[in-house]
Amino acid sequence: MKKIAFIGAGNMNSSIIGGLIKQGWSPENIIVSNPSPEKRLKLAQLYGIKETASNIEAAEFADFIVLGVKPHFIDNVCEELSNIANINEKCFISIAAGCTISQIQSALAGKYPVIRTMPNTPSQLGLGMTGMFASTPVSKQQLTLAEKMMSAVGKILWLQEEQQINFITSISGSGPAYFFLFMEALEQKAKDFGFSDQASRMLVQQTAFGAASMVVENSNLEISQLRTNVTSKGGTTQAALNKLTESGFPQLVTDAVDAALQRTIEMAQNNG
Ligand SMILES: NC(=O)c1ccc[n+]([C@@H]2O[C@H](COP(=O)([O-])OP(=O)(O)OC[C@H]3O[C@@H](n4cnc5c(N)ncnc54)[C@H](OP(=O)(O)O)[C@@H]3O)[C@@H](O)[C@H]2O)c1
Repeated sequence: MKKIAFIGAGNMNSSIIGGLIKQGWSPENIIVSNPSPEKRLKLAQLYGIKETASNIEAAEFADFIVLGVKPHFIDNVCEELSNIANINEKCFISIAAGCTISQIQSALAGKYPVIRTMPNTPSQLGLGMTGMFASTPVSKQQLTLAEKMMSAVGKILWLQEEQQINFITSISGSGPAYFFLFMEALEQKAKDFGFSDQASRMLVQQTAFGAASMVVENSNLEISQLRTNVTSKGGTTQAALNKLTESGFPQLVTDAVDAALQRTIEMAQNNG
């Protein structure tokens, strides 16, 4: 079985490690490195995986190296890893937002296999959505393993071009927060009607969960069809939807995604 090193014991790497263990990945084949001890020791204790303070030791142990540090640490970490033994046999998987493959390869001082991914926060629950792009030297076997790994925390989508990662960031990367904002507004209105905090929360979360589940369970139906099915002509739902449409809600969503896209591009430029 292939060995995986996680550089950084933060939120996203922890989610992926948890997903792999849940899927039956052998803990002896997983190692995590992090300079400060608390988080890596916690993961080792929780899952029985190996841990170390040394990124080099972790990377030399593994066939796959997951770069899970904040984007501004990526260059330093990759420069450090450029000295590992047998670097030619390794595959690097980056989850760092805005860090390009050429930036990573340049810090590694070689055109080594790199797979760039963009997961999102529901990965913590195994309900993530990850966009993935592979650089040219990545082998079929490495692709398969990377796919298996990210599938442990949700669904994956392979991309044809690296730039599409920016689109993924603005749709599914930031997407959970868009839904949170909508839910917050609905929850506030329930409170305004006089429902308790607990009742308001339940009304909103169960409605959102039910609606999302209907979309998932009816993949043969367009989402617009599901909406039409619950909108009687002249009824209450239609009154609300008319208000949302007249107020430009669909256009607002498009503009919001464009703003996220613009910011992703700016951040990538500042990183590179
Ligand atoms: N969270 C998300 O939803 C999400 C979604 C998509 C992409 N990402 C990407 O995932 C990456 C990690 O994000 P996160 O939310 O998991 O961040 P995080 O919780 O802050 O984790 C980063 C970890 O890296 C450790 N670290 C710092 N310097 C290091 C070094 N030189 N070597 C090894 N480890 C080091 C930190 O340790 P200390 O805390 O001890 O300093 C921390 O445990 C980021 O690049 C982010 O863009 C995250």
